[in-house]
Amino acid sequence: MQIVLIEGDGIGPEVTQAACRVIAAAGVKIDWVKAAAGIPAAEQHGEPLPEETLEMIRRYRVALKGPCTTPVGKGYRSINVRLRQGLDLFASVRPVKTLPGVKTPYEKVDLIVVRENTEGLYAGLEHQVVPGVVESVRLITRPAAERIVKFAFELARHGGRRMVTFCHKADVMRLSDGLFLECARSVADDYPFIQFEEKPIDNVCLELAADPAEFDVLVMENLFGDVISDLAAGLVGGLGVVPGANYGSRYAVFEAVHGSAPDIAGKGLANPIAVIRSAALMLEYVGHRGAAVKIEQSVATTLQNGVGLTRDLGGDGNTATITEQIIKNLGA
Ligand code: NAI
Repeated sequence: MQIVLIEGDGIGPEVTQAACRVIAAAGVKIDWVKAAAGIPAAEQHGEPLPEETLEMIRRYRVALKGPCTTPVGKGYRSINVRLRQGLDLFASVRPVKTLPGVKTPYEKVDLIVVRENTEGLYAGLEHQVVPGVVESVRLITRPAAERIVKFAFELARHGGRRMVTFCHKADVMRLSDGLFLECARSVADDYPFIQFEEKPIDNVCLELAADPAEFDVLVMENLFGDVISDLAAGLVGGLGVVPGANYGSRYAVFEAVHGSAPDIAGKGLANPIAVIRSAALMLEYVGHRGAAVKIEQSVATTLQNGVGLTRDLGGDGNTATITEQIIKNLGA
């Protein structure tokens, strides 16, 4: 099986290599097709997301991706935003679940954040009206709103989930979130067997901080989803442990929630668990459910044992030690 591997930059190469080792140790043979993105691509091709990279994902359909730095204020548009728009990866999915051995103030968190990935304020429609005045367009369209809410309900249905919460700010952004809310209600009508609730995004933040176990599947527009997915990661141990996936109707790209962590890049200190768990989601997607479950279980065992953990998890180990433990525990 051929799958595209984008190592990215910063801690990207360290954590993606760890994930490739774990996949191989779990018994799945993948012929990785490397594609460039991020700083190395900008240096080599003068372009942080070369067209060849998009073409490779179009050819092989599935990619595992490490984080990529987006240089601020240098005229680059976010690589991730362009990747998602270029491949129409309209749904970002972040499963957020309490992990054994990871101490947080919360218990029994088991929710999924579903984020619309192609529109909203991240559509990139910004312009300067006059010097000192800029405008950003918050794009919401009926087809995109309906398909993301439908995606969330289908995810709920297939995953045996009880409830979908639509998060919005329709009282203030009456037209844009008004349309999104109308679409959400109409899609929800097709799923009478799944509970539907609609909540203002600020209330959702408060309730996530108070009792995240109340939530099940959450669906929302792009910017809200970006913020909520990091907030939710913080409820269960932080960016180093939460996996992510971006799905379209033809392609899928699996990547961690975290960025390129320039502060620890090249030091061998990065926690690879988020990318390893993203790789497990990828294996499930390509039909290797058994290996995916084995990897998830091994990560849980490793966290529970507490041996070789990286510093962000309170250990004194590094990328290599935690990866060794995960590989060792595959057979446990
Ligand atoms: P970041 O996620 O890279 O780092 C935030 C903090 O979390 C840092 O202290 C970092 O050391 C720590 N951290 C992140 N991942 C970790 C891991 N696996 N193990 C241990 N500690 C970890 O966020 P930041 O600093 O805002 O962004 C850095 C760059 O990454 C920016 O250029 C940004 O655009 C890019 N980025 C890329 C993403 C992607 O490619 N999917 C996602 C988010 C940011």
